[in-house]
Amino acid sequence: MSSQENPRRTFAIISHPDAGKTTLTEKLLLQGGAIHLAGEVKARGQARRARSDWMKIEQQRGISVTSSVMTFEKEFIGEDGPETITFNLLDTPGHEDFSEDTYRTLTAVDSAIMVIDAAKGIEPQTRKLFEVCRLRSVPIITFVNKVDREGRDPFETLDEVADMLALDVSPQMWPIGMGGLFEGILDFRTGEVARPEGGSKEYLGKRDTDPAIPENFEEEYQLAQAGYPEFDLEAYRNGDLTPVYFGSALKNFGVEELIDAIARYAPPPRPQPAGEEQISPDRDEVTGFIFKVQANMDPMHRDRIAFMRQVSGTFKRGMKLTPSGLGKPIAVHSPILFFAQDREIADTAHPGDIIGIPNHGTLRVGDTLSEKNQVRFTGLPNFAPEILRRVQLKDPTKTKQLRKALDDLSEEGVIQVFYPVIGGSSIVGVVGQLQLEVLVSRLAAEYKVEAGLEASPFATARWLKGPQEKIDEFERFNQGNLAHDRDGDTVFMAKSPWDVGYQQEKNPEITFSATKER
Ligand code: G4P
Repeated sequence: MSSQENPRRTFAIISHPDAGKTTLTEKLLLQGGAIHLAGEVKARGQARRARSDWMKIEQQRGISVTSSVMTFEKEFIGEDGPETITFNLLDTPGHEDFSEDTYRTLTAVDSAIMVIDAAKGIEPQTRKLFEVCRLRSVPIITFVNKVDREGRDPFETLDEVADMLALDVSPQMWPIGMGGLFEGILDFRTGEVARPEGGSKEYLGKRDTDPAIPENFEEEYQLAQAGYPEFDLEAYRNGDLTPVYFGSALKNFGVEELIDAIARYAPPPRPQPAGEEQISPDRDEVTGFIFKVQANMDPMHRDRIAFMRQVSGTFKRGMKLTPSGLGKPIAVHSPILFFAQDREIADTAHPGDIIGIPNHGTLRVGDTLSEKNQVRFTGLPNFAPEILRRVQLKDPTKTKQLRKALDDLSEEGVIQVFYPVIGGSSIVGVVGQLQLEVLVSRLAAEYKVEAGLEASPFATARWLKGPQEKIDEFERFNQGNLAHDRDGDTVFMAKSPWDVGYQQEKNPEITFSATKER
């Protein structure tokens, strides 16, 4: 069977910074044979950053602002014998200052792994990302990391996930002690215990079937099995239940079991909504949607790479696809598949794969690409910004350039832009502070526009939905708090979350939506 025909699992890892996402990513890729030395994920990032000097912030801060895609294969022994599965892991930037890209990446996956630090439990960013998964019913496997260190009682962690996220939790493994007392991990499915070995107390392949080491352990794991719901595939795939794995990415515990769980339980490429229709991966026609556009590394060229999540059909290099925003077909001559070691030119791609399409600004986030130009994918929302700033132009003769730049950058998804109904200066909105720095630096470097950002009186924005006459009436009385977004849609600019609640109460027939369908 050629690799192109393998079943696909397209997923992302969500976590709070420092929980161990990078380490786990490395270990997953190592297991899949995609990289040979741990540490290469970061090292590769650095080499790439050295080339991309347009984005100085990336270098200064030593963090990766942009998501990438990693592909690896692994043989899996399923019910019907061995099969090779292709895993597409979409990286979501894990830094505190994350952007809409992070959210949008989650629109392109079929499932997610939620990594939690055993000592810290659910942290704010994990929670935010979780909410985005819930919005799209993306099923989640939980990985409680760092059990080789002193952590919280596993029961406490399970209960926190269940309570804070309103999810059923179903433990699939149980750590035998933690920190200095750590003796291995019992896998409930196989009954095997993975054991630490050597001075580093790593997992090197040693397994046995006798979990009874510390006192009371038997009682503890039986309680863990009896006290929580059994794994239920349907509940998991609906996003109502999360199976929980315990492990240590650093010491290799739980990684094999996690890959096995993705292979075994995570959904294959799912049908995607297009209005009333669901586009099945079995459809003959090639369809997909753009979930991310990345400006290219070279500031002299306005090259961009649009990331398309393929939904259906068999894509072949050179194929003509029509972007919904353009209306006329483009030939995709040099598509890129992103492998962990290097980029490779793709000849064919299948549902669930991500294809990079170089272009000069013709492809926009949210665009559908298809052979027949009849499908429009929906459910690719914009997310309400959490930080709003007024753009102050230093040279007033550059108004036109600024407008062009803001339109371009908002198309790319770097920022959102709002033009107030009353008053001059544009307002930009972002979900993370870092995007603002990216904005200022790119305005200067690529558009020769010197601009500053000033506080704006607004805290967030809401799109209005509801009966037109109600919206018109609302608009008449709230001109000072209204703006138009890039598409010309009206947006309520709120001074505080309280303001949103107040207006919502006063105008029950209008929905003040924190997301906007594109
Ligand atoms: P992130 O991508 O989620 O931000 O986390 P990352 O993998 O970079 O891990 C953050 C820190 O936690 C790193 O230590 C890493 O070595 C450590 N870590 C990750 N997984 C485990 C684990 O299972 N057990 C233990 N004990 N530690 C773990 P650091 O010292 O901050 O970074 P580094 O110098 O090792 O790169």
